[in-house]
Amino acid sequence: MSDMVRRIRASVEQYSDPYLRQTLLDAGALEHLRVTEREVGGTIELGIPVRGYVDQFRSALTAHLTAAGHPGVAVRVELRGVIVAHSVQRPLKPLPGVSNIVAVASGKGGVGKSTVAANLALAWAAGGARVGILDADIYGPSQPIMLGLQGQRPSAPDGKHLLPLEAHGIKVMSIGFLVDAAQAVVWRGPMVTQALTQLLGDTTWGELDYLVVDMPPGTGDIQLTLSQRVPVSGALIVTTPQDIALADARKGLAMFEKVAVPVLGIVENMSLHVCTHCGHVEHIFGEGGGARMAAEHGVQLLGSLPLDSRVREEADGGAPSVVSAPMLRPELSKRL
Ligand SMILES: Nc1ncnc2c1ncn2[C@@H]1O[C@H](COP(=O)(O)OP(=O)(O)OP(=O)(O)O)[C@@H](O)[C@H]1O
Ligand SMILES: [Mg+2]
Ligand SMILES: [Zn+2]
Repeated sequence: MSDMVRRIRASVEQYSDPYLRQTLLDAGALEHLRVTEREVGGTIELGIPVRGYVDQFRSALTAHLTAAGHPGVAVRVELRGVIVAHSVQRPLKPLPGVSNIVAVASGKGGVGKSTVAANLALAWAAGGARVGILDADIYGPSQPIMLGLQGQRPSAPDGKHLLPLEAHGIKVMSIGFLVDAAQAVVWRGPMVTQALTQLLGDTTWGELDYLVVDMPPGTGDIQLTLSQRVPVSGALIVTTPQDIALADARKGLAMFEKVAVPVLGIVENMSLHVCTHCGHVEHIFGEGGGARMAAEHGVQLLGSLPLDSRVREEADGGAPSVVSAPMLRPELSKRL
């Protein structure tokens, strides 16, 4: 290997992917990389869904190489998404066929958990992953409406296992398909957790990279029992920047820590509002709360989402923003 090739390879290794927030070397992405003095080729393996991402990745890596003193090296790499299964809480066993279950939780109700869960699931699917969503909010299931499946019922061809419904390319199961929310209100905690764990296990999910669980709001017995019984890879906490939402989100975080479920990060929803008339920015629920909470607890702030009436309208219409307005995805917007 020439010195030049070694130097080019070293700069590729030090490229930090904005989604992974890691260098390609640390991410173990470069086993199938091929470098010459003129070209970076071969395949880069990222542990995330990568469909639609290659153009953006190549331009960013090209810019990185140019800045590192290697202009004119053509970046022709292909990307492969390799979604590995992460471990689950002991002594639970992973759900067969499902690589990663991710719980979306909040503490406080109404902060946008279901909206984030639906959009996250759809974004992973858009990236080429095999995805399912389980709506575990027995008292207020939202996924049937948000995914345009209201009034439908899953079938049970063998009389025992439920076939999930499908919407926008993801598999969907909701307690709302089976139980009337008004009827469930009188159920006691153990009955609820029993019904939900059974629903998780008795659904024919098939092979999935990710199963998103839209958790019921709160941090009571039901949530605690679910976080102990559902074999998850990690949990995502949704909050608004408002103090009372953050206080409840901290309880949610503490609950997952107690049962040794890794908290993958915080999503701050309704972070700001951009006025549709004059464009001025208003922090309706306060500013910077998600970032402060993330820093205090040593977890990542994964993203901040605006309060925007289109987010609500699109979710109410059964096609959340990720499918209704995919131009928000940078790699797709370039085509418009
Ligand atoms: N970023 C946003 N911009 C505008 N509206 C939003 C946004 N996020 C959520 N909403 C709307 O706010 C309402 C509450 O959101 P959602 O149902 O996702 O919250 P939740 O935390 O799941 O609530 P619950 O505790 O009842 O389960 C919904 O009508 C939703 O469409
Ligand atoms: Mg909800
Ligand atoms: Zn205004």
